[in-house]
Parts: sequence; structure tokens; C-alpha cells
Amino acid sequence: MKVMVIQGPNLNMLGVREQQIYGPMKLEQIHAQMKDFAGQNNAEIEFFQSNLEGEIVDKIQECYGEIDGIIINPAAYTHTSIAIRDAISAVGIPTIEVHISNIHRREEFRKKNMIAAVCSSSIVGFGPFGYHLAQVGLFQVINEVKAMQEAQAQAQQA
Ligand code: DQA
Repeated sequence: MKVMVIQGPNLNMLGVREQQIYGPMKLEQIHAQMKDFAGQNNAEIEFFQSNLEGEIVDKIQECYGEIDGIIINPAAYTHTSIAIRDAISAVGIPTIEVHISNIHRREEFRKKNMIAAVCSSSIVGFGPFGYHLAQVGLFQVINEVKAMQEAQAQAQQA
């Protein structure tokens, strides 16, 4: 099982930026915990962070045919990016969206979400622990998809 974690703009500043909202943990620490958990579940995991919309679109496209599931925090692009939404939709890979803060309880402009509708699920407001929850959920979704594909293949052979 291969998982790609994609982090959007300013998430490289975790641990520095608005600690009262995002907490003290750095992105590298979050990724180290995710890597440990992936190892315990025999999963391969890769990490990518970019402040540029086009680079995030390119990374999602690169996942096609290579990656079983995506965990993405599109950060501010959540609220604006039709391009990232279309890329997730285009590759058709199970994707879980994470937000460290509870975007529903913040400014009005954060309530608009271009991404959620093309994701299997969204996890918001759990702080960095949300990435762990996303991993648990994604492993479940990937296993369900694999079981369905195997059942379909068997039915076609019968
Ligand atoms: C965020 C929420 C977004 O509104 C914000 O622009 C971010 C981080 C979160 O993880 O809570 O950069 O995605």
C-alpha cells in the first residue's frame, strides 16, 4: 500500500505560525509520527509540501497509477482552488482531506470548501492528531476498495 501526503501553503511554518490555532508541532514531527504508523501497517508513505498551487496539481497527477491513497491539507487553497479539486477528481484516488483547525468555527471565508466534495472524507479540528485519524481512515478505505475490486474480478471469472 502506497500513500502520498500533500501539504499546502504555509504548513511548512507549523510550530511558528499562529500557535494558538495550529499548536507547537512542526511539520517534520507530524510526518515522523505518520511514518512510524505507516511502518507498523506495512504501508509506504511519501511527503510533499508546496506553497504553489500548480506544484500541488502536478503532484496529484503524478500519483495516478502509482499511489493507493492521498492525504491532503490544501491549506488556504481549500477555499479557492478549482484546479486542486479537479486534479483530485481526475486521478480518482481515494483522498482524505485534513484541517488542523476547525475551519467551520473560524472566519466566514473558511467555510467555503472547494475540495471536500471530491474527497472520501474530511477530518477537521483535531489538531495534528487529525493526520493520524486520516491515516487510519485511509487504510480502511483502501482495503475496502481492494476487497471490492477482488470481488469484481472473481465475479467476472465465474
Ligand atoms: C488549514 C485551514 C485553512 O483555512 C488555512 O488557510 C490553513 C490551514 C488547517 O489545517 O486548519 O493554512 O488548512
